[in-house]
Amino acid sequence: MAEKIDGRAIARALDEKTKAQVDEMVAAGMKRPGLTVILVGEDGASEVYVRRKIKACEKVGINSSEHRLPADTSQEDLLALIEKLNKDPEVHGILCQVPLPDHIDTRLVLRSISPDKDVDGFHPVNVGRLSTGTGGIVPCTPLGVMILLGSVIDDFKGLDAVVIGKSNIVGKPVANLLLDAECTVTVTHIYTENLPEIARKADIIVAAAGAPELVKGSWVKPGAVLIDVGITRIKGEDGKEKLVGDIAFDEVQHAKAVTPVPGGVGPMTIACLLANTVQAARALQG
Ligand code: GUN
Repeated sequence: MAEKIDGRAIARALDEKTKAQVDEMVAAGMKRPGLTVILVGEDGASEVYVRRKIKACEKVGINSSEHRLPADTSQEDLLALIEKLNKDPEVHGILCQVPLPDHIDTRLVLRSISPDKDVDGFHPVNVGRLSTGTGGIVPCTPLGVMILLGSVIDDFKGLDAVVIGKSNIVGKPVANLLLDAECTVTVTHIYTENLPEIARKADIIVAAAGAPELVKGSWVKPGAVLIDVGITRIKGEDGKEKLVGDIAFDEVQHAKAVTPVPGGVGPMTIACLLANTVQAARALQG
C-alpha cells in the first residue's frame, strides 16, 4: 500500500510553526503580521476562499482585514486602494482574489501590488526571483507541493520529476522549485505525446492538469511519489457529487506515497499563505 500523505496534518504542523513565529515577532517588539484580502464582486467560490483565509489568520495570530468592493468598482479605484495598502505599515501581505470582473485588467492589478507584499507570489518580480533561484515569495500551492514532497523524500538530487500541466500558478513554479532542488524536470501539457511513457520513468509526479483521474496505475513506476493538485467535482455512480483528483488514487497503490483528494494539497495552500505573510512581515521590518 502506498503511504497516504496527510496534507491536513502537515498543514496543521506548519500552522503551529507559523503561530510560534508570530509570537516570537511580537515578543521581540516587531509589528504583528497583517494580511489584507481584496474581493471585488460577488463570486460564491471566492467568498468561501476569502472567509477561510481570514479565519485561518485568526488561528495563528495574524491580523487580517477585508476589502469587499462592488462588482462595478472601477480599475482606477482598485489601483488606488492597492497603492494605499502598499504604503500602509500595518499591512504586510496583500491578496487580491481572482477572478476579477471582466472590465478590470487582472495582470495590471496583480503587478500593482508591491512585490514585497505579494503573498500570492504572482508578481513578475517574484516570478523572476523564483525562476532565477534568488528568493522572493513562492506561490502558495507550489510551496505546499514541495513541503508535501519533503515529508517523504530526503534527497531530491537527480530524481526524475514529471510535472503535468504548465500553468503559471502551479505547473511552471513547481517545475522551477523542483529544478532548484536538483531534480531532472519534464513539464508536460495537453499537446505532449506519449505522456504515459514519460510518466512511467518518473520518481516524482506532480499532476496539475485539472483532468479527473488522468494518471492511471499503469503510468506509475513502483516506488514513485505522487502529488495530486487536481480537484474536480463530479457525479459518482451513486449520483452523489464527489471530489476527484488528477490521479486514479485506487490504481496507484504500488507508489511509495500519494496525496489524497481532498486532504492532500488543498489544506497546504492556506497554511503556506500564512507562512508567506509572516515571511513578508519579517522582511519588511528588516
Ligand atoms: N482565487 C483562487 N485561488 C486564489 C489564490 O490562491 N490567490 C488569489 N489571489 N486568488 C485566488
